[in-house]
Amino acid sequence: MERELALEFARVTEAAALAAARWVGKGDKEAADDAAVTAMRVMFDTVAIDGIIKIGEGEMDEAPMLYIGERVGTGVPPEVDIAVDPLEGTNIVAKGGVGAISVLAAAPRGALLHAPDMYMDKIAVGPKCKGRVHLDAPIKENLKEVARASHKLISEVTVVILDRPRHEHIVEQVRQAGARIRLIADGDISPAVAAAYEDSGVDMLLGIGGAPEGVISAAALKCLGGDFQARLAPEEPEEIMRCKEMGIEDINTLFTIDDLVKSEDVIFVATGITGSFLLKGVRYLKRKAVTDTLVMRSLSGTIRRIIAEHHLDKKPLFRDNRIKLRMD
Ligand code: FBP
Repeated sequence: MERELALEFARVTEAAALAAARWVGKGDKEAADDAAVTAMRVMFDTVAIDGIIKIGEGEMDEAPMLYIGERVGTGVPPEVDIAVDPLEGTNIVAKGGVGAISVLAAAPRGALLHAPDMYMDKIAVGPKCKGRVHLDAPIKENLKEVARASHKLISEVTVVILDRPRHEHIVEQVRQAGARIRLIADGDISPAVAAAYEDSGVDMLLGIGGAPEGVISAAALKCLGGDFQARLAPEEPEEIMRCKEMGIEDINTLFTIDDLVKSEDVIFVATGITGSFLLKGVRYLKRKAVTDTLVMRSLSGTIRRIIAEHHLDKKPLFRDNRIKLRMD
């Protein structure tokens, strides 16, 4: 994939973030999601790719846009697989909480695991800990390895965990080992990526979250040299059947980062909607909005942070009322 694509993709997540940001705290997660999806979909039409959505808003019959299998882009080469989460953290935006982002990952055709929409057990760490942790190892052992690799005490290691009853046993074990915990309400992509940033305050992500989010996190960690392992966590027999239909024969397969993203040519882009471990959220100035975007390309290893000022009255995407940028 040409490097210029990375910046084109940044425009796509910026548009979705700007659209969703208008709904912060309004208590309407569907409206926020719709706004992000519509903006992202419209913006994709300007990108010179022959793209197919591999991870998106759902199957064709359940999502009007950005559904799995939908073609995006202008239809010219390169052939690219796309994973999107136009609004990661719908509840966060509805409640005006922290950590909502708009995010996408791209890789050559066939490179992204077609992850079913179900739960996945995950572990994410940064580059220093690559190869030193294992999803099946006792939590205490993983924490010791992370502490050793990061030259920290276990009591200085911070683990991010989604605040869910299903994670009580993980929380208990991390506490017993003496490490720090940040329990989050939603949004496990951002802390997974943050684990690869030394000064983010996050050393590891543990626990069960969405499988699509897992593939997107793996794409980011591939760009950053971190590690990610996962296993699907179906809850019902139908979900196991669905995995088989999608070609995942053994439900107990441990997916490595290279199983989830089978290429060294990956682009990851995320724009903050509300502030997170990674990125600042959308800020409004006089007639302008400011966005923070992270753009990474694994081939070159370049990581850009783009702070963009958007003149809202000059944006054609929003000017013709297709996307509501202003609530008033
Ligand atoms: P949405 O953006 O779809 O609301 O998902 C947010 C999220 O918190 C993900 O980051 C996470 O992987 C998943 O939901 C966890 O699912 P659940 O809320 O069912 O525990």
